[in-house]
Amino acid sequence: MDGDRAANPLTGVPGRNTWPESGPEAGLQSEGSLMTKPIERRTARLTLRCWGDQDRAPFAAMNADPEVMRYFAALWTEDASNAAIDTWLSQFAAQGWSNWAVEITHTGEFIGFIGLSVPKRVLPFSPCVEIGWRLGRSFWHQGYATEGAREALRVGFETVGLDEIVSFTTLTNLPSRAVMTRLGMRDTHADFDHPGVPEGHPLRPHCLYKLSSADWHRQA
Ligand SMILES: CC(C)(COP(=O)(O)OP(=O)(O)OC[C@H]1O[C@@H](n2cnc3c(N)ncnc32)[C@H](O)[C@@H]1OP(=O)(O)O)[C@@H](O)C(=O)NCCC(=O)NCCS
Repeated sequence: MDGDRAANPLTGVPGRNTWPESGPEAGLQSEGSLMTKPIERRTARLTLRCWGDQDRAPFAAMNADPEVMRYFAALWTEDASNAAIDTWLSQFAAQGWSNWAVEITHTGEFIGFIGLSVPKRVLPFSPCVEIGWRLGRSFWHQGYATEGAREALRVGFETVGLDEIVSFTTLTNLPSRAVMTRLGMRDTHADFDHPGVPEGHPLRPHCLYKLSSADWHRQA
């Protein structure tokens, strides 16, 4: 299925605007708005799935951990954490993809999020779809972020039909930059000041990495 490549009305991003999960599986909510079945995936060790209420407490605990949030200007309150889940749930309902809740398949343990999103702020390279990740501290250094993100890229390029996926982080976030490099993303060296971080804050300067669909298919 080729679809059309005009800007997706939900994301503003050029690419295929329909994908299998939005076709026969799509249903109507009682209010009459379109509801799409969430895309969910398994990797060798992980399950990328839609969010449930059982994820709210462990996700809020992660977002209140200063070590996990070391490269962010502020910790997230429980309300902010729940609001993010609510936003992602509405994106799954509207378009089938967003930031997934990630669990270790054989234990069912929730480890954090990995996924695709459209940044809510206008950035110098907007419109774009971003890949991002945040895992609880005890799940670092085991290859989970790269494994889950590779599957998220596959969904973005092979199921959603995106032309390009970007990733960005504060310049000093070397663990996150290492994930980008392991994924084959290219440092554009087009560093920028993130408008969501206060002026003069040391975390404001960000780097920008990109991967095109053509390069993804070449690597595969
Ligand atoms: C960014 C973040 C997800 C990176 O986590 P990470 O553990 O460094 O990355 P991965 O999960 O890909 O794991 C890679 C590491 O696992 C090791 N590893 C162990 N077992 C492995 C396996 N079976 N397969 C692959 N790698 C494995 C790798 O050698 C590598 O080691 P290193 O960390 O010593 O270099 C994590 O630091 C994080 O959640 N940070 C806080 C939130 C954040 O900053 N998010 C990004 C904002 S833009």
